[in-house]
Amino acid sequence: TIPQRVKIVEVGPRDGLQNETALVPSDIKIQLVEKLAATGLSAIECGSFVNPKWVPQMADSAAVFSGIQRQPGVTYSALTPNLKGLESAIAAGVDEVAVFGSCTEAFSLKNINCSIEESLARFKPLMRAAEQANLKVRAYLSCAFGCPYSGEVSPLQVAKVARQLEDLGCYEIAISDTIGTGTPALVESVVNAVAGSLPLQQLAMHFHDTQGRALANVEQSLKMGITVFDSAIGGLGGCPYADGASGNLATEALVGLLHNKGVETGVDLAQCWVVGEFINAYVGAPKSTKPALASSKN
Ligand code: HMG
Ligand code: MG
Repeated sequence: TIPQRVKIVEVGPRDGLQNETALVPSDIKIQLVEKLAATGLSAIECGSFVNPKWVPQMADSAAVFSGIQRQPGVTYSALTPNLKGLESAIAAGVDEVAVFGSCTEAFSLKNINCSIEESLARFKPLMRAAEQANLKVRAYLSCAFGCPYSGEVSPLQVAKVARQLEDLGCYEIAISDTIGTGTPALVESVVNAVAGSLPLQQLAMHFHDTQGRALANVEQSLKMGITVFDSAIGGLGGCPYADGASGNLATEALVGLLHNKGVETGVDLAQCWVVGEFINAYVGAPKSTKPALASSKN
């Protein structure tokens, strides 16, 4: 049996737009976030507080937070890599933050300029400050299904770092397929390994659809009892430090799959299609690698 209800974390305004070469104006981002909330999505990652020299696309995140009309019951969150980022996020009025670490040393270095151990050390003061500010902290764990720089990753390594993030106090760990190399068989191994050291309820799955397997990976995760999935409206997305990571799993495709299986999401699918078209008009033609999005339209 699969879960009756699933929570979707919409990451389009962050994971999606951070990877678009087109700089989307703040007022369009604000409209995007408001339209996403109107579809019934209850968790929306709106931006990140990182070095703007590294990711200029997210440099206006504070403006996005100050511009949005908030809906009750919706959590508006942002990525924060360190204490400096957290302080900016608090000043901008975020509801929740997320740290992001990696299973591999090579990706950690490229993405956040430090080793895995150093990243965990940087998260410690952030966690303390977040607790004082009454903010919950989510964690992303990149390269759980393979690394663009060092190749295959052992499920035990994923489990180890996931456990370390949980020990720091992160309430949810998003096991992330940064470059879309996951397969249902690999999902089975990784979820089993991680579930050996963490409660399943604390896991979320974050699939990129680079190779067209995101939906199959969601189905496998559902069978294993996972109840939280990340997706990006319009299949936007990727990571600027992982070539080929273009295309998060599209929210439209995820919602369509879940509703077909009788799983409740609280999200209006028809409205999602409208919002996906709205934002794709600003970032140019859909990328070639959006298989789940294409297949869900018919
Ligand atoms: P660093 O150079 O090691 O940081 O970068 P530092 O502490 O040595 O500071 C150097 C400079 O950065 C200083 O400025 C700091 O003020 C500034 P300067 O004096 O040179 O002018 N700085 C900051 N500025 C703004 N906000 C901050 C901040 N911190 C330092 N928070 C750092 C470390 C993490 C900051 C850098 O590597 C960075 O910004 N990386 C961004 C990486 C990123 O955003 N990647 C994309 C998101 S992750 C992702 O997409 C994967 C995910 O979707 C899951 C998956 O799919 O795998 C989550
Ligand atoms: Mg991602």
